[in-house]
Amino acid sequence: MKKKVLIISGGISKERLISLDTGLQVAKELKKYKYKVKISEPNINLSKIIKKFKPYVIFNALHGQFGEDGYIQTILETYKIPYTHSGVIASSIAMDKELSKKIFIKNKINTPKFFIYSYDETNSNLIKKINKKLKFPVVVKPINEGSSVNVFICNKKNIFKILNSIKNYKKVMIEEFIGGREIQVAIMGNSKLGAIELKPKRKFYDYQAKYNIKAKTQHIIPVNLPKKKLNQVMGLALKAHRIIGCNGVTRSDFKLHKGKFYLLEINTQPGMTKLSLVPEIAYHNNISFIKLIEWILKDASKEK
Ligand SMILES: Nc1ncnc2c1ncn2[C@@H]1O[C@H](COP(=O)(O)OP(=O)(O)O)[C@@H](O)[C@H]1O
Ligand SMILES: [Mg+2]
Repeated sequence: MKKKVLIISGGISKERLISLDTGLQVAKELKKYKYKVKISEPNINLSKIIKKFKPYVIFNALHGQFGEDGYIQTILETYKIPYTHSGVIASSIAMDKELSKKIFIKNKINTPKFFIYSYDETNSNLIKKINKKLKFPVVVKPINEGSSVNVFICNKKNIFKILNSIKNYKKVMIEEFIGGREIQVAIMGNSKLGAIELKPKRKFYDYQAKYNIKAKTQHIIPVNLPKKKLNQVMGLALKAHRIIGCNGVTRSDFKLHKGKFYLLEINTQPGMTKLSLVPEIAYHNNISFIKLIEWILKDASKEK
């Protein structure tokens, strides 16, 4: 009998379109290998669909809020059917950049200096505070978003305008800007899968640089780094994966500046289209797209 996999994709986050793409491509690949696949939105019908379809595993292809941050995982726990990627707690910690960076710091993983800006506070001293703690330029970013949505590099002149344009977040992160190279590492369970370097043609690795092929971001794999450095960054990614308590596949985003790695964040549900970074890293390490997906399905049954 064909194995049944239910893929959940779409959702209401700002990364909905990327998630739909991840869902479609994973479905297409699984169908090629004789799996019976159904795709569902994470909506009111989910429970009915699960009861009727009876999947042996649920592939969580959601990205961003309500899909990658512990919310859907809490619901999935109630069905007693294995679901892919990280569990409730690890997902919610990893999605929260403030919390996860505090954990990185406690565990001696280098991360850019930062503070949280709350819109309730008076901001008259903001420039002073930045000059003292971080120095311009700084990076302003939401605490729990992905795909570079609403990430901005700011200087003294435009920071208030930018902060004002995203004030629906209530609070945001202000981080020191780290120049240099952009390196991302994929972890698969307890092993270091590999790394890739991104060279965006744009000012930084923003939404367009990530998803619009016309933006022409260069993907460099294998990464041109001495073996020792490469092992160091992969070791940091594995450490982050472990201390946050992640499952399955994760992707950690680093900057490399003046010989020092800075961990920006760990992603518990990295993009899984055929052109996404984790499948690309896997492919270069002799793991085909289907092998990667099948490993993720198998790993789903592990207790989280
Ligand atoms: N502190 C920083 N210094 C330099 N560039 C940064 C910094 N933070 C973010 N960026 C740029 O913005 C991109 C997205 O930031 P990231 O923290 O990974 O958030 P997201 O969850 O949206 O991917 C990074 O890949 C990088 O290009
Ligand atoms: Mg990122």
